[in-house]
Amino acid sequence: MTMLELRGLRKRYRTGGTAVAPVWLDAVDGVDLTIPEGEFFGVVGESGCGKSTLAKLIMGIEQPTEGEVWFKGQRIDNLPERDRRPLRTQYQMVFQDSGSSLNPRKRVMDIIAEPMLYHRLTTRREAPARVAELLALVGLPEDMQARYPHELSGGQRQRVCLARALGLKPKLLILDEPVSALDVSVQAQILNLLRELQQELQLTCMFIGHGLAAVRYVSHRMGVMYMGRMVEIGDAQTLFTAPAHPYTRALVDAAPVTDVTQRSRPRTQLSGEIGRKPEYGCPLMSRCPHAEGACAGLSGALLPVPGPLGHLSACMKAGGASHA
Ligand SMILES: Nc1ncnc2c1ncn2[C@@H]1O[C@H](COP(=O)(O)OP(=O)(O)OP(=O)(O)O)[C@@H](O)[C@H]1O
Ligand SMILES: [Mg+2]
Repeated sequence: MTMLELRGLRKRYRTGGTAVAPVWLDAVDGVDLTIPEGEFFGVVGESGCGKSTLAKLIMGIEQPTEGEVWFKGQRIDNLPERDRRPLRTQYQMVFQDSGSSLNPRKRVMDIIAEPMLYHRLTTRREAPARVAELLALVGLPEDMQARYPHELSGGQRQRVCLARALGLKPKLLILDEPVSALDVSVQAQILNLLRELQQELQLTCMFIGHGLAAVRYVSHRMGVMYMGRMVEIGDAQTLFTAPAHPYTRALVDAAPVTDVTQRSRPRTQLSGEIGRKPEYGCPLMSRCPHAEGACAGLSGALLPVPGPLGHLSACMKAGGASHA
């Protein structure tokens, strides 16, 4: 079954200019994506490329300028709030700055119990046992429930956020950079926990991150975003070992190399900074070492890359561009 489908999703923000000549930014610029039930889908891309906006569009926190969001075969982006409410528990998000989304005046117990009580998924009597169960699920000791958020470490706060989301028994969980702010050892613990939970609860997950390595570790499939567009989609292994799009290749090459035999291989490096998106053609054109005249005419559509099925890239050079 298809859990989530995005069709031509676009979010346009006004970022400046005047009433007569406004300046617009397509933070999400025509994303098509299908995530089947039980899949862990990773989204990577540099800061500002539209990852959080994409997540907010799915959650209904932001309204799309264009396009559609379908959840389990039902279109949800245009549903009135009262029709969305019964579905709300089924898709949950752990926010990028989730630590600060915890109410500082509430104890962990109430933070986790409140959404379950609101949606009538537990009763006041049963809540403590349910919270204890959830704390155990995310690897926190039971006595944490008496603590306030400021008495927790970053990793512990992240686990509380996860427990709060899991309490609603979501079918789809969106995790927006759940480990970026944590140190490496805690990152590994949370990533391992997510992998276990995904298998144990048969969750469908969208995992958003900066770093390819962390996202690849937990994902079955991955999508690479650049300036609001998906530029490459494929299974996590393929994307890492045989990236087709120059932007993905630059991301892979930017990761530290631990294998000494790989240190001398040619690397793709982008020039310049992320700037304004050109009105036409490939958004990477001004930074790409492979850019040529024809790139200005590219539509950005994802095309199949020869090789493993389901590997798609927006770069016309994808076919001949296997990673050396
Ligand atoms: N409400 C808003 N109004 C105007 N512009 C916005 C708004 N929200 C986001 N943007 C812009 O949209 C772009 C995408 O933002 P978004 O938060 O989705 O990026 P991101 O990929 O999540 O970045 P990061 O990795 O830093 O979290 C950015 O250029 C941002 O400045
Ligand atoms: Mg973000």
